[in-house]
Amino acid sequence: MTAVTLKEINLDRFGHLARRATNDVGPVSILNRDGDVIWSADASAEELLRSILADTDPSVVLLTESTQRSVGSGKLMFSSPVLCEEPEPVGWIILLVDSESDVGDARAVLADVAACMAREVTLNGELDNLASELGERYEELNLIYSLESQGLAVERDPTGAQILLENIAEHLGVDVAALVLSERPTPLFGLNLTRSIPNLDLVLTELRGDLFRFVSTSRSSLILNELEDPRRRYLLINMDFRCLACPVMGGNRVDGMLVLLRHGSRNEFSNGDLKLGKVIANQTAIMMRNRAMLEKLRKFGQQMAGALIEAVEAKDPYTRGHSERVQAISLKIGSAAGLDGDSMEAVAWGSLLHDVGKVGVPDAILCKAGRLTDDEYTMIKIHPERSYEILMHIEDLSPEAREGARYHQENFDGSGYPHGLKGNEIPPTARLISVADTYDAITSSRPYRAGLSHEAAMTEIQRVAGAQLDPHYVTLLERLCEEDHRWLLRITNAHDTSDE
Ligand SMILES: [Fe+2]
Repeated sequence: MTAVTLKEINLDRFGHLARRATNDVGPVSILNRDGDVIWSADASAEELLRSILADTDPSVVLLTESTQRSVGSGKLMFSSPVLCEEPEPVGWIILLVDSESDVGDARAVLADVAACMAREVTLNGELDNLASELGERYEELNLIYSLESQGLAVERDPTGAQILLENIAEHLGVDVAALVLSERPTPLFGLNLTRSIPNLDLVLTELRGDLFRFVSTSRSSLILNELEDPRRRYLLINMDFRCLACPVMGGNRVDGMLVLLRHGSRNEFSNGDLKLGKVIANQTAIMMRNRAMLEKLRKFGQQMAGALIEAVEAKDPYTRGHSERVQAISLKIGSAAGLDGDSMEAVAWGSLLHDVGKVGVPDAILCKAGRLTDDEYTMIKIHPERSYEILMHIEDLSPEAREGARYHQENFDGSGYPHGLKGNEIPPTARLISVADTYDAITSSRPYRAGLSHEAAMTEIQRVAGAQLDPHYVTLLERLCEEDHRWLLRITNAHDTSDE
């Protein structure tokens, strides 16, 4: 609560009101809580009052009730205190008159004006408090919004969680904001230290120990402000931090705990801090649930993709594992190309699903050991477009990923299929996948021939660079194999003839 003062109200308005209400029988002045004149009808009235006050004992004039008293220069002084919620007046309104016959009901009028002033001062104070509370709520909302927008990447990105916890520590004015999770042996934490904590590891271990067990078992929040709190005999022993701990609920289970620590020299935790701590803990719980759900969905998506590939590869046992191998090689080339996260994701999905269209090619053609007729080859050439059509049903798949599958049989010189695109007309994801696909096709065994060696595959790939394949991605694959190509042998069925 801010201390209220008369300065925040319109003194002119009340001074003139008092003058009019007392029929201008004498000069009106207003004093502050220290007895200083802060408003007067005119300079001479102010000077007169100052001289009277200088000669008068304030303790007999400036009282908590309305008074009338004879003062110097034969004057009569009426004084009404401005009383707000505090026991002491925040000021006085003073009227000086020459004789009692002038007074009329001035005393009552003066008291009414003082009451109006008190009301306005109180209202102003309430407004100030409301504004500062609004400011605090805004800060809290901002914090909660930042929690939501940054996301609590607790499992996969502890750095993200640390930044977020530092943010919380700063907003709440605490030294340590820690998130204890039942799944993790050590808490995630952010610091906003007013002075160092030399045994921080020990403190964090203690949070993960009995404090967490206590909050998990009681399933309720806990504030330890006082050093003399009897619970300190078994919680945060020998640690002089003020502590606020709130459980993070996962349905009926306690999945974690938000802990805020302040050095003993800082403010105690208030009910407002407790409320905010609970909100943040709840928000964290919601984010953790969302994250778990997303993870589940991600796994479901991967398993569905796996099932789709299984359906294709079951048609032709010789191609078993081809999609995963092409994906692994493509990702290596993609990372050597310095692709960003979205493009890497497109490469991952496009390469894994590039052949799903083969599901529509008759088994007799797909597995034919002998030479294909022109018509049979045409049926094979349908598969990239079919892959694209199938992948159109997966809304979340990026266009880049779909294009990777659709154009992976296009040749750099325009001689490929299904659209005969050339050079940069072919989307980069497709040009990249094409290199990986070619390597795996050469090194995999077919019904009519055994898979070739790594060296043979690289020689062939270099030969067709610029014709069938984009030379840029061929160069990247060469570079990836320059010092050590064993990673490629581990991924694929290729054998190595360099030692033979
Ligand atoms: Fe393929």
